[in-house]
Amino acid sequence: MRSFLFGGLVALSSALGASAANFNSSAYSDAATGIDFQRWCDESTGYCFGLALPETVDSDFIGQLFVPLSSSNGWGGVSIGSTMTKSLLIGAWPNGDSVVASLRLAQSYTNPGAYSGGASLEEIPDGTSVNSTHLTYTFLCRGCVVGTPTTFDKTMDSYFFGWALSNTSPKSPASSDATLNYHAAGFGNFQMVLSQAKSAKYSTWAAKAKPSPTTATPSASASAAPSSTPSASVAPTVGNSTYDYIVVGGGPAGIITAQRLAETKKKVLLLERGVAHTVQLGNKNALPWNNTLTPHDVPALGSSLSKLGLLDEYLCDDTAYMAGCVLGGGSTINALGFIYPPEVDFNDKWPTGWKWDDVKAAASRLYARNPGSILPSADGKRYNYGMYDVLSEFFKNLGWKSVNQQQQPNEKHQVYSYPSWSVANGIRAGPVRSYLPLAQALDNFTLRLQTKARRLIRRGGRITGVEVQTASGAIEIINLSPGGKVVLAAGAMSTPRVLFNSGIGPAKQIQKVKSGSTGITLPPQAEWITLPVGENFKDHGQYVISIQTKGNFTAFNTSSVVSGPAEDIQNLYSEGSGILTQGGHRIQFWTSNEGTDGKTRFYQGSCSVDTNGVITMKLYNTHGATSVGVLGIDGSGSTIMDTDPWLQTDADKESLTRFLQGLLDDMKNSTVGLTPDVSSPAEIIAKKVGGDHFVGTAKLGTDDGRTGGTSVVDLNTKVYGTENLYVVDASIHPDLPTGNTQAIVMVVAEAAAAKIIAAGDSALDSSPSASVSVSAPAQKTAYASSAIIKVSHTPISPSATVEPTSDCNETFTTTVTPTVTASADPISGPAGSVKRASLTTSPAVAADAIAPEGAASVTVVTVTKEIVVTSTTTITVMPTLA
Ligand SMILES: Cc1cc2nc3c(=O)[nH]c(=O)nc-3n(C[C@H](O)[C@H](O)[C@H](O)COP(=O)(O)OP(=O)(O)OC[C@H]3O[C@@H](n4cnc5c(N)ncnc54)[C@H](O)[C@@H]3O)c2cc1C
Ligand code: HEM
Repeated sequence: MRSFLFGGLVALSSALGASAANFNSSAYSDAATGIDFQRWCDESTGYCFGLALPETVDSDFIGQLFVPLSSSNGWGGVSIGSTMTKSLLIGAWPNGDSVVASLRLAQSYTNPGAYSGGASLEEIPDGTSVNSTHLTYTFLCRGCVVGTPTTFDKTMDSYFFGWALSNTSPKSPASSDATLNYHAAGFGNFQMVLSQAKSAKYSTWAAKAKPSPTTATPSASASAAPSSTPSASVAPTVGNSTYDYIVVGGGPAGIITAQRLAETKKKVLLLERGVAHTVQLGNKNALPWNNTLTPHDVPALGSSLSKLGLLDEYLCDDTAYMAGCVLGGGSTINALGFIYPPEVDFNDKWPTGWKWDDVKAAASRLYARNPGSILPSADGKRYNYGMYDVLSEFFKNLGWKSVNQQQQPNEKHQVYSYPSWSVANGIRAGPVRSYLPLAQALDNFTLRLQTKARRLIRRGGRITGVEVQTASGAIEIINLSPGGKVVLAAGAMSTPRVLFNSGIGPAKQIQKVKSGSTGITLPPQAEWITLPVGENFKDHGQYVISIQTKGNFTAFNTSSVVSGPAEDIQNLYSEGSGILTQGGHRIQFWTSNEGTDGKTRFYQGSCSVDTNGVITMKLYNTHGATSVGVLGIDGSGSTIMDTDPWLQTDADKESLTRFLQGLLDDMKNSTVGLTPDVSSPAEIIAKKVGGDHFVGTAKLGTDDGRTGGTSVVDLNTKVYGTENLYVVDASIHPDLPTGNTQAIVMVVAEAAAAKIIAAGDSALDSSPSASVSVSAPAQKTAYASSAIIKVSHTPISPSATVEPTSDCNETFTTTVTPTVTASADPISGPAGSVKRASLTTSPAVAADAIAPEGAASVTVVTVTKEIVVTSTTTITVMPTLA
């Protein structure tokens, strides 16, 4: 499916004048409306977009979206510019018999927010219809021509537009601000010949438009919130059970950590926001020809999930770039590449305590359970390896070395190898298969699917529980047991959101949560923990080229695998053998060079075949790259790239250019016969595709980020300034690995789990750290909390007594009954000022009290002493059951 895979590349080749005719719009007369459009259609999906303009372009245009649907499901969109970001976007989807559409603007590669400019959509009813196979949406776009970069300029003759298609309808189709999922069915660019779209009949056509309630542009504030976002007023319930460990995120790092923690017999809860992809865990999407497997289990589909439309429902809709929101996280939707990290990945920039010698035992533990394979077919044969023969010949002629990458992981200069995949017994491996069943066999382990952590409940540096949103939209607080710990493993793209939502991170990001529309309750500003969350954001840059060869190797057509592959293939697979047990790659290679800054940078190539005789070569710039970005959050709660992490330094650009030039020269001089579709490094760099190996957004290190350092977690993976909060996922990696990320993420999770277990209860026995603004309990057991009481206070006269903020360590004890809360003495001062509160109780005052069901009374042992004065001051106190 060329239009999907090379969506971004098509625009480039058109811009360069190659194959431009295929991507230019052409004349089309619409019978239903009589409008003459300039229209472009995608050959493989049938998606079309038409445009009509007046002879003198002003601010309006007429558009027509033709969106193919999959059994009445899907959405389609057009970008009035070549990129998704910063261009005006129009999305349309079915809602019963009608079409809902909206104007959007994306700041990053996630669900785009509402376009806040003064534009609107008015439906042209004659040209708008829906049936089960497609929708047509014809509309007048009023006030939509605003000039570059948002749209084309009035005077332009042609302009590159973008298109996007998904087979999955938004979850709230009636709402024009519905959250859109990723456009896995296709996307790309085409050239709209604006000069040919003009007509003297335009005003007659435009008069057909009728403002329609379904096409109203949502207000910026309304659309910023995902449809499922609960309002701040939704009252949380409090769960009855408490846990020693709550692990947030069931990706590779979360499952491994949760399983290891459960081995200690402590009570462990694993929270995963997505569903499970396996039949064994309730997924109903079994293959028609094998009722024990779903498509995601079949290794051969690993590289084709996107083009087969199997990615949409498992991708997060609120992250800055692609991430898996399904049990197993990225390890459920990735291409299965399983690259054993070389020693240099740790020895270079990880701190002492995390060098290879420190983590190699963890790596051995991982490989014992999840070894991956370079020869996954049970019969010991390799299938469809013709391309390996061609490329290995090329590398051999260059003098590069053939290695077994699993046995020689440290060999990463001028080497090539058979691919390594996370496959076992012929199916996708990874922690969902290799660790989770071990945890589920234990009584002290609980997995909750479709449960999304919104924020941590904390008092100063002590986390007491996690606020979650369930599949029904309900909000619930799950509390820790005494001495309990929360472990974040939501991934490099989502762990920062949980931290920001909990008042942990740069003040700039927390302010965005505060002023946003997610209804998150933040701790008072005085309790924000300022750490550089999101600020060491790194990724492998990825660049795809196609290489024509003289080889007669073939592409394995994966399109029939879901419905039922050929009988011989099925028979082999039933024995754990054959092509279905292999991922899409056929060869991987590595090399390195020294940059102008004296630093060694590594490059990886992963090669597969999409077209007979043509190599698809994905090139990555990996370990050693010095570029760093910034991951932030927007008002709707989506993580966004404030600065992207690719090619930000001159030394990275120079080193990559030299590597690419060398590769092109080697191909040109080779007798093997390799003809790439590009002729210069600049062309390849322009073909950058989205990354998916993100790390570093909560960096591990000894330089405490609260005091100007770069680190968010310490050597035990504990978040600085907290007593019992840990991070174990790709976020903590201070550096990029040499190969794909999942194996090193798993190694690090194994090592992190061991450190958390070794730390035992000591963290809670020790004194609170300096940044913690709340006093420690008189006795640790006081935190046997399964309830939270809120003390509400409204400041009164400015003359009321307030005490200095120093010496805030008194302990205050009283008993109140459930549904009755404590109240504070009058406090006042300028809004935002921090005061010390002297609290007294009044059983007569009832407000906001949340007590465990059936509890007789609640003893308040410690109260918050530092209070930010706002119009209503809320103090959370930690009770223990009397
Ligand atoms: C499309 C794609 C292809 C890739 N290909 C490869 C490859 O071939 N080889 C390779 O080595 N690596 C690959 N990667 C990268 C690899 O999958 C990741 O590095 C790895 O999965 C990271 O693991 P993690 O545990 O840190 O986070 P993730 O895998 O992102 O897991 C995070 C988990 O947390 C859950 N979660 C997030 N937020 C919350 C919340 N608030 N509450 C509860 N749960 C939450 C998510 O649903 C997810 O299950 C790919 C990644 C992607 C996205
Ligand atoms: C009206 C809605 C949308 C339109 C018209 C649109 C359009 C596009 C276009 C034209 C591209 C390719 C050009 C570029 O890279 O900038 C693109 C890329 C991308 N879009 Fe969208 N998009 C829409 C919605 C979404 C949504 C809802 C998501 C995710 C939830 C998303 C995620 C992405 C990602 C991750 C890429 C990069 C993919 C890659 O390079 O492999 N988009 N989009």
